[in-house]
Order: sequence, then C-alpha cells, then structure tokens
Amino acid sequence: MQKLNIALPKGRLGEKVYKLLEELGYGCPGMTDGSRKLIFEDEGGMVRYFWVKPSDVDIYVERGAADIGVVGRDILLEHNPDVYELVDLGFGKCRMCVAGVVGQEVSTDRTLRVATKFPGIAKAHYSSKSREIDIIKLSGSIEIAPILGLSDVIVDIVETGSTLKENNLEVKDTIVDISARLIANKAAYRFKNEEVTALAEKIREVLEMRK
Ligand code: PRP
Repeated sequence: MQKLNIALPKGRLGEKVYKLLEELGYGCPGMTDGSRKLIFEDEGGMVRYFWVKPSDVDIYVERGAADIGVVGRDILLEHNPDVYELVDLGFGKCRMCVAGVVGQEVSTDRTLRVATKFPGIAKAHYSSKSREIDIIKLSGSIEIAPILGLSDVIVDIVETGSTLKENNLEVKDTIVDISARLIANKAAYRFKNEEVTALAEKIREVLEMRK
C-alpha cells in the first residue's frame, strides 16, 4: 500500500470530513486535539494529513503536494484547477448568490459594480448575461459594500442567509449550488489508483447508506 497525502480544509468542514475518514479506517492520532500542528502522519504510514486554508486545498492537490483533498465547489469554479473531482460529499451546502440592498432595484442601464471574493465566478455569471460589470475584489465582509455604496451588488456565499438579513440585504439571484468535493491529483490518480479509488469508494458507500 502506498501512503496517501490528504489536504483538508482547516475549520468545521474539514473536521467533519476527518471524522468521516476516521470512521472509514483512515484515522490519525492527534488530528483533532486542538494543537497548532498542521501535518499529521499515522503510525502505520497509510495516511498523512495536512490542515490547509480552505481556498488553498486545490493548489496543494493540483501541484501534487497532496494526492487528494476536500474543497468547496466555489473554489473549484473560481480557480478551475487541473484535478479530478471524485465525489460530491454533500457537506458544506450553500449557494453562490447575487445580493443587494432590500427593496433596491438593480439598475440595468449602467455598468454594474459587483463586490466579491469570487471575481471569476462573478465575471462568468454576468458575461453569460452579456452584462457589463466593474469587479471590486474584496477579501471579506463583502456585505458592507452595497450598504456603503461601494458596489451595487455582491456575489457571495449564502448559507443560512443570516448575514444578509442582519445587514438589510437580500438574494437577487442564485448563481450556483455549492457543496464540498473530494478531488484528486491527476498523477496520483494513476500511480496510487488503488489507494485513491478505495478511499473514494468507501466514502461513496457510506454517503449512500446515510441517504
Ligand atoms: C461566508 C460568506 C458570508 C457568510 C454567509 O463568510 O462570505 O459572509 O459566510 O453565511 P450565512 O448565510 O450563514 O450568514 P465566511 O463565514 O466564510 O467568512 P469570510 O467572509 O471571512 O470568508
């Protein structure tokens, strides 16, 4: 058996995915003990885990630093990495939406100012509608932009909707549904095929059983 290098997103989603992998026999001591360590290896040498920033998982996998990883579909759509998408994990469900101030009409007669962390997704969405936009790339707290008049709308992730609600914003349009995906490095998929496909198959089976 060859060792699998697995990149998991730091945070709630990653912890949930790790629990699932642990149940499937891919546990690794110390992973969830709250330490600041970022790399963990099991004694049997079957797996090595890395906790990485959620939006960086695909970079580790695409470049082969990790054989497989778990990443949101939002990141895949934004970065378009050259990786295989193996399983829709169904975790971390949310929507990529256009949102704006409650009751405020979105003007159609001038260039639309769009604040977002996802310029690629926003551009693709509006170009499919042949709409001229001016992207304002922000790194967080996107919801503030339309309130301060920095933008007309935002393109952002909506999960429960409470961030929008608490900031007097509403969904104007849904662009795409998002969930977490298991991805694989293309070379690892060939050269560690047995290990990668066995893990993906076990995940598929347990997800199927939980349906
Ligand atoms: C995301 C998103 C919204 C919020 C939506 O931010 O950018 O702000 O979650 O969730 P809700 O619909 O359940 O309120 P995140 O928490 O990922 O933080 P970030 O802006 O720092 O990326």
